[in-house]
Amino acid sequence: MNNDGQATESPWKRRFLILFMITVGLPALVGLWLIKRFGGDEPVDYASPTEHFKYGSTGGEHEMGFPYWIWRALPEVCPQYLPGKGYQSLGMVYEKNPDGSDRDVPVGTSMRRFQGIDRVFVNCAACHVSTVRTAADKPPTIVLGMPAATFNMKGFEEFFFRCAADPKFSKEYILPEIKRQGGELDLLDRYLVYPIAIAIMRDRVLALAGRFDWVFKQRDWGPGRVDTFNSAKVIFNFPMAHLDPREFDAPADFPSIWRQRQRKEPKEMQLHWDGNNTTVEERNKSAAFGTGTTPPTIDIARIKRVEAWIMDVTPPAFTDFFTIDAALAAKGAPIYKAYCATCHGASGSDFAGESVGQVEPLAKIGTDRRRLDSYTYTLAVNQATLYAGYPWRFTHFQKTHGYANMPLDGLWLRAPYLHNGSVPSLRDLLEPAAKRPKAFYRGNDVFDPVKVGFVSTLPEANGRKLFRLDTTQAGNGNGGHEGKAYGTELAAADKMALVEFLKTF
Ligand code: HEC
Ligand code: HEC
Repeated sequence: MNNDGQATESPWKRRFLILFMITVGLPALVGLWLIKRFGGDEPVDYASPTEHFKYGSTGGEHEMGFPYWIWRALPEVCPQYLPGKGYQSLGMVYEKNPDGSDRDVPVGTSMRRFQGIDRVFVNCAACHVSTVRTAADKPPTIVLGMPAATFNMKGFEEFFFRCAADPKFSKEYILPEIKRQGGELDLLDRYLVYPIAIAIMRDRVLALAGRFDWVFKQRDWGPGRVDTFNSAKVIFNFPMAHLDPREFDAPADFPSIWRQRQRKEPKEMQLHWDGNNTTVEERNKSAAFGTGTTPPTIDIARIKRVEAWIMDVTPPAFTDFFTIDAALAAKGAPIYKAYCATCHGASGSDFAGESVGQVEPLAKIGTDRRRLDSYTYTLAVNQATLYAGYPWRFTHFQKTHGYANMPLDGLWLRAPYLHNGSVPSLRDLLEPAAKRPKAFYRGNDVFDPVKVGFVSTLPEANGRKLFRLDTTQAGNGNGGHEGKAYGTELAAADKMALVEFLKTF
């Protein structure tokens, strides 16, 4: 009977099983597969703090991230919108693979897999890392925490805006380029995921391009600079067309970000070029906007890792690259102490000084006023609404009326000088404005150890076209920080000694 019993029972059992599979099992499996394929939302993490700084996430890829393979393909799809080959031509810094080729993404970009696609976006290092060469035929050294002196941020933004508006920004052009570069997209990627991603990215970038329209209307910033707070106004939906034009064309040099602890303890300094914020943590979160994060997507834990690292990181010494004439530097030390120390601190590592971290009124310092005027009271009020309801809501932004007396750590790597990078070398800064270069080239990473600054007389470096900064244009003024108090009336020999001393910073 057993056999019979089974024969009558088993079709039902089988039918039930099949039914179960169709109604529950299969969808569950598909669901699991879909979760595996499209779920998950973790950035690539790095154990070492320096790798995290170079390639770690601050949360930006989440909303703004470019699908990895589209990012890779675009320089070949839209080469006409780049000054040369690849993102390298915009001065982005690439590390080498062991075989000597460039790594696939530059320093200053992070990755995350989200909704089934690897995404790439910029992080802090895009604006706070660069390279130095001791001579044109020498290899570059990557320096973390220095201003991104070669990175052309406006060129970078415009590249995406222009490419997205080009008919070639379509799957017909992008997918074959991905294939050519060896991108292994599976069937689903090729026929569904990437075509949709391309369409979405195009819409998003074009929408952003519409909002950032004013960027196109501004004069080029050139490498190493960004119009910080006018960009912020766009993000707050300020009516850009109706603002006072004197707020515009306000490019600011990327600053260095070493030794943050000493900017916080024993007292909090007023920082940012105009000293509009006194807390390191708020500046970091504000900076994170530059990496595409928004209140819901900002990755506080991962930004904290960067924050912790920049607290005590120090700049490389001038003597790691060149030599210093110790006797001459010793002659410069008392001159520095007499003229500069109250405003800039005792040395490159000791920031003690009566007015360090305070704002010097514009009437006294006399440097270009655009960056100061670009930061308005209305913007400060709007920033105070940021992160409203979060414990880390911004409360320390304020409108000031001058520029901050900042410490000069790692000074040699911070050229060109002043907040708008309008003076190419330390030696030039010690001349009165009338004798400083009227125009010069920015973006070279070859260093001039005599004048102390990057070589600024050549229109090209390593095949990269450099940017001619014309100091007669609005926002580029090279005046101010001159007169007896600022050392511009010292004798030539004293200026040489002072410059030698500043190399020790
Ligand atoms: C788009 C380029 C850009 C990115 C990305 C960026 N920064 Fe900056 N950062 C700047 C500029 C420009 C300033 C100076 C702003 C000003 O005063 O006009 C600045 C200022 C700072 C300062 C203050 C320096 C000082 O001494 O006043 C700190 C600290 C800082 N950034 C940290 C960060 C961190 C941390 C990140 C990542 C979360 C980051 N930045 C991302 C461009 C950038
Ligand atoms: C009264 C205060 C004060 C004195 C004195 C002073 N400075 Fe400055 N210094 C400033 C301020 C404020 C700025 C920022 C101005 C700007 O960027 O528009 C500045 C900027 C600089 C910069 C540019 C830093 C950078 O990262 O671009 C250098 C270099 C510098 N000063 C060197 C000196 C030297 C050397 C002396 C002495 C001969 C000196 N300063 C005297 C207030 C002072």
